[in-house]
Amino acid sequence: KNIVILISGRGSNMQAIVEANIPAAHIAAVVSNRPDAAGLAWAAERGIATAVVDHKQFASREAFDAQLAQVIDGYQPDLVVLAGFMRILTADFTRRYEGRMLNIHPSLLPAFPGLHTHARALEMGCKVAGCTVHFVTAELDHGPIVAQGVVTLQDNDTPDSVAGRVLQLEHQLYPDAVRRFVAGELKIVDGKVASPAQP
Ligand code: GRF
Repeated sequence: KNIVILISGRGSNMQAIVEANIPAAHIAAVVSNRPDAAGLAWAAERGIATAVVDHKQFASREAFDAQLAQVIDGYQPDLVVLAGFMRILTADFTRRYEGRMLNIHPSLLPAFPGLHTHARALEMGCKVAGCTVHFVTAELDHGPIVAQGVVTLQDNDTPDSVAGRVLQLEHQLYPDAVRRFVAGELKIVDGKVASPAQP
């Protein structure tokens, strides 16, 4: 299966997915909206095709998304993986990849969509935080949930300390979700991803 990974920066989740060497998965390309994304250089060094679609060069979200889709489709992806891709996507774009685009978000959705998730969880006095892999739909940080990971919050936690622990979880959760997608294990039933059968 061809996979295109979209990043905007560091790309540590992209790295985790590449390094997982998922059976039958081919990382066809890593695409960034920022030319200076650190993850681009990392991918290029490993011989992975890279591309940049710089959002600053486009007058509208629609024009940016249209060009992004054209670049992505050039790699004939079976799956598009958003890994720290920090652009809001138009409904046309999300519809085009419906059922074949995943995102990872650093909260236990449906709590805390959007930015500054860990700070908000700490402010609310939450006792746990975490991350969610979900299929992408038109609504930001919504869509059928594939997997979630949980960390316990402590009194001395800061947004950064939580982010560090959650990121480690992300690096396990996301490659595993991609592996399950590639293996054909992710089925959406009534708008939800069916849970794996219990042994
Ligand atoms: C991760 O915390 C991810 O959940 C969020 O943005 C961050 C990206 O980190 N969407 P990286 O670029 O994968 O290192």
